[in-house]
Amino acid sequence: MNAKTDIYGIIGNPIDRSFSPTLHTKMFKKYRINAVYVPFKSDNIKDAIIGLKGLSIKGVNITLPYKEKAFFFIDHADEDAQILKSVNTIKNVDGKLYGYNTDFKGFMEALRNNFNYKGKNITLIGAGGAARGVIYALYKLGIKKINIMNRTISKAENLQREFSDLIKINVYELNAKEIVGDSDMIINATSVGLKNSNMPIDIKNVEKSDIVDIIYPDTELIKQAKFKGLRTMNGIEMLVNQAFYSFKIWTGVEFDRKAALDIVKDFYI
Ligand code: ATR
Repeated sequence: MNAKTDIYGIIGNPIDRSFSPTLHTKMFKKYRINAVYVPFKSDNIKDAIIGLKGLSIKGVNITLPYKEKAFFFIDHADEDAQILKSVNTIKNVDGKLYGYNTDFKGFMEALRNNFNYKGKNITLIGAGGAARGVIYALYKLGIKKINIMNRTISKAENLQREFSDLIKINVYELNAKEIVGDSDMIINATSVGLKNSNMPIDIKNVEKSDIVDIIYPDTELIKQAKFKGLRTMNGIEMLVNQAFYSFKIWTGVEFDRKAALDIVKDFYI
């Protein structure tokens, strides 16, 4: 580190479990970029974002609970971030803050690389911020119609309205037996399973569906789906991909994603 070292970081709260400082720091080293990446725990996202300009911090990731709020304090948002009204990546160019959403892109690419989703009956569980990113990714992949299940039906109906020009959404109660049974792919974008071994749906009702979760490490849903012999995908590729695109936005460098996968796996052991 010296007087020319660029500063990057991640703003969130809590922040102490994030793998991003470890991953980005290792990548700066690997590609001989004179930069550091540090955790910024913040109680005030507005002040934190204004501070980026005051301190000439080159770029940040934004994580929970600030991805939607951060959108309102940047100077420019790219087209995807504008539609999602949510940013997880900010680049500071001469005091102007440019916002991007690489989460949806990370998910989109992970799905494209691992599944044949064309013409499949896809069911999304959840209607929060993460679910919005998944819906947008599915639309960008050319999917015309999906089912959404959520504990709070009105939140799913809000998404149905919001995205009505892009994708047809049918809304169902959480765990609707016939929908779970008929699905070819079920994507969990709820926070269920993040902190404990709860499951958003009863795996007994799943007959043939692939099971996708945006969380990493494996949730109970993924563990039981594997046990049942279903095809699964957890959130690790999405994590690596979103970091890959953030890094590229900041530095122009496309880092080695296989090396990144190993770093993330090591981090969570
Ligand atoms: P995020 O931005 O991570 O998506 P969020 O906006 O709080 O977080 O959304 C969390 C999602 O998990 C929601 O779909 C939520 O359901 P509700 O809309 O009914 O709140 C879902 N969720 C959280 N805890 C849940 C639980 N115990 N059972 C079922 N769904 C749950």
